[in-house]
Amino acid sequence: MMKNILLFTLGLLFAGFAPADAATRVSETIPQPAVVELRTESFRLDPAAVIRCSSDGLQNEASYLRAQLAESSSADQKGQLRRCRQIELSIDGKIPSEGYVLELQPRKVAIRGGSAAGVFYGIQTLLQEMQEGVLPCGRIEDAPRYAWRGYMLDEARHFSGAARVKLLLDQMARFKMNRFHWHLTDEQGWRIEIKGYPRLATVGGTGCHSNPDTPAQYYTQEEIRDIVAYAAARHIEIIPEIDMPGHATASNRAYPEYSGGGTEQHPDFTFNVGKEETYTFLTDVLREVAALFPSEWLHLGGDEVAYGSEAWKRDPHVQALMAREGLTTVKQAERYFMRRMADSVRMLGKTLVGWDELLDLDMDPERCLVMWWRHDKPDYLRRALDGGYTTILCPRKPLYFDFVQHADHKWGRVWDGFCPLEDVYAFPDAWFEGWGMTPERSAHILGIQANVWSELMHTAERVDFMTFPRLCALSEAAWSQPGVKDYDDFMRRMEPVFASFDRLGIYYFDPRNPGHHPEPAGPEIIKRQPPKMDFRD
Ligand code: ACM
Repeated sequence: MMKNILLFTLGLLFAGFAPADAATRVSETIPQPAVVELRTESFRLDPAAVIRCSSDGLQNEASYLRAQLAESSSADQKGQLRRCRQIELSIDGKIPSEGYVLELQPRKVAIRGGSAAGVFYGIQTLLQEMQEGVLPCGRIEDAPRYAWRGYMLDEARHFSGAARVKLLLDQMARFKMNRFHWHLTDEQGWRIEIKGYPRLATVGGTGCHSNPDTPAQYYTQEEIRDIVAYAAARHIEIIPEIDMPGHATASNRAYPEYSGGGTEQHPDFTFNVGKEETYTFLTDVLREVAALFPSEWLHLGGDEVAYGSEAWKRDPHVQALMAREGLTTVKQAERYFMRRMADSVRMLGKTLVGWDELLDLDMDPERCLVMWWRHDKPDYLRRALDGGYTTILCPRKPLYFDFVQHADHKWGRVWDGFCPLEDVYAFPDAWFEGWGMTPERSAHILGIQANVWSELMHTAERVDFMTFPRLCALSEAAWSQPGVKDYDDFMRRMEPVFASFDRLGIYYFDPRNPGHHPEPAGPEIIKRQPPKMDFRD
């Protein structure tokens, strides 16, 4: 902790100081590092430089760097600049775990990380500072502000598929994001193979938000393992979400015997919390899920149960449970259910994650992680923090990337405003005062996350357009200390990033030139204001 503070203090000291003379230069890296001491003097990095690991356990990082260098281009073919032929990677226990120190000299490039992850992030900075094979001399010292730097993708509404997920993971890694929250089940589709209940994928996987007849789309367990390994090699942990007891429609299509009913608008929205078999079924499912994902976290959703739980008042099994347990409201039945499922999560050796509705269920703050998403309910945020819950900030505004990012855009949510790039960048500090943030409260914030709900994202172009460049602004909001953030400078550093997106075929929104990639149409026009009983309140 002291190390962190020291490093950040240095970062704050340097923050706001423009380079004093022409011999120094600013960084090209997103997210902005804590301490940058770079000179205009430069050298060329030989793409075939020897990569030496002077600590164990860095083979993954060395191979990653080797592959990236092989792809990099070199403008200085005439060889006028001095050429560096040696890169050294090492772990240094004095550096914060995800932090690193990058030393750039023509004689040797050295990356010291607090862990393999820190070395990996040093490599990302090296790659961003290198422009056409040329690097500045100097030194960068860096460590993240938040431990959880998350991005959630909803594949239940529309399925993106493995190739697109890997592209997103590549971009997350490039910008030092480290948590991929995978929303795999919902009303419209179930996207993960469960061997004990095969109809979940084949029947539950059929259909999507724009077409209920789409043939089944889901990940086999083998594909999941492959993606988990791909992410791990990039220091990204994947947190699966199996939403319950609401948003259960796709599962209930496959196994109607566990349905607890719903409403006309959301039929079969809930699991049947009154049947003992439901607990066996869901625990079996979670056992398979837990075995696939090494993450300590298991997300059980828990949101918006009220959209279906009125039906429990008419269900004989739920009524019998309530009579037996002395429960007088369906909310109490929901609490009973979640507490039992939390036991299952614990039995599987994982820690429960849930949306902020968990706060109404009196869960043990020592044993769960809360994602605060209802931006219009800051009292829930305060309750979470005052109650000692470790909390992730992902309020709809500005961190739901299904909201549009420009006033002229039509295909996405707008609720009394939207989520422009500037707001993502300014997060979270610009909101702290309004929320009543105090140092005691902010100590419980583990990190921040953007959520990509895909009702209106039926193509890769749509997902790209809504994700980029907001993901870059999010990464700086999550990683960089407030004192080193500067939106205009961020936009300057985005220039080569936009060019790289063009090379990678990423269909991004260009705020400098909104016509560069026109807004791709979605499958249907979203309502400008939520109806009284929208499925997300
Ligand atoms: C949510 O947006 N229902 C978490």
